[in-house]
Amino acid sequence: MPDVDGLEAEAAEVLPEHVLGYFRGPTGAYGVPTDAERWSQVRFRPHVLRPTGGLSLATTVLGTPVASPVLVAPMAQQRAAHPDGEVATARAVARRGTLLGVSTNTGVRFSDIDAVGAPWWFQVYVMDDRAVTGELVTRAADAGAKALVLTVDAPAVDPRRPELEPRTWPERYGMQVNIPGGEDGGIVFRGSGDLSVADIGWLHELTGLPVVVKGVLRGDDAAACVEAGAAAVVVSTHGGRCLNQTVRPADALPEVVAAVGDRAEVYVDSGVRTPEHVAAALCLGARAVFLGRPVLWSLATGGDRRVEQLLEGFDTQLLRVLRSLGVGSLDELGPDLVV
Ligand SMILES: Cc1cc2nc3c(=O)[nH]c(=O)nc-3n(C[C@H](O)[C@H](O)[C@H](O)COP(=O)(O)O)c2cc1C
Repeated sequence: MPDVDGLEAEAAEVLPEHVLGYFRGPTGAYGVPTDAERWSQVRFRPHVLRPTGGLSLATTVLGTPVASPVLVAPMAQQRAAHPDGEVATARAVARRGTLLGVSTNTGVRFSDIDAVGAPWWFQVYVMDDRAVTGELVTRAADAGAKALVLTVDAPAVDPRRPELEPRTWPERYGMQVNIPGGEDGGIVFRGSGDLSVADIGWLHELTGLPVVVKGVLRGDDAAACVEAGAAAVVVSTHGGRCLNQTVRPADALPEVVAAVGDRAEVYVDSGVRTPEHVAAALCLGARAVFLGRPVLWSLATGGDRRVEQLLEGFDTQLLRVLRSLGVGSLDELGPDLVV
């Protein structure tokens, strides 16, 4: 499979400086060890002499069948990586039989993404204007989104990191093209500060879609989300792009899984860079894992074909890693296999 650091170096050759800075974000800044480094510290306790021949990566997420537990995270500004943006990502995802998140700040129309045929979940930043937010999620649902992903960890952009603000870029890739007047991102404030768990029910009632809460790092918060009607939570640091001095997803995941039990699904992202990281996440209780930046690097350097190769590489190598752990099905993965 493609080496992710190599992909990033290749992408750095082709992307304009400000786009590269935005995609990279502040991960690892300020001397904070990265999420990826923490995933690498998880050690396996493999079984031997166990049958693994029947192993399959196929699973479901909120009832949607996927060929692999490796999904694609919602990321803004994909048209800055490739002119086709999420349409290219969706093509790769469709060919691999998996699922993608679509950011509120996408520069691509919902109908164009849905036409590709891959299942997609719409990521919601609740804007200060609730009516506009309601209109946007209704449009996403009507266009075919299978779930809403409510992102709750990004109440404010760090003013020390102006590169995280595409509104200042010389070129425009479109920010909220699915809302009238939203093209330049003039409407949206990333996640209004007055969100509460009641908004989970509000989004569900508006659309009838299951709501996934993204950016949860504590068991008590995860339980509160589930009690308020969330169908799933994503343990995430937003790729280290928000507070970035938080507990790492690998450390928060077991606490969240324990708090949620079998009442909802738990996924994880941030810093997942190798199939071993995916395996560690699955052992620690995640039902699926979202990939972020590696998808952008692939998109920038080779469009949908390269994203497909990335996902295929993850799947092939994940099968190998899981067989090396001595498991014959995803159900056999558990915390006993790691320290
Ligand atoms: C360039 C970029 C844009 C992102 N935009 C969004 C977004 O609009 N909404 C959101 O919920 N998360 C967004 N994320 C966070 C991702 O969904 C995901 O949590 C993160 O990228 C996972 O970490 P990784 O990149 O280390 O794999 C973005 C991440 C990146 C790198």
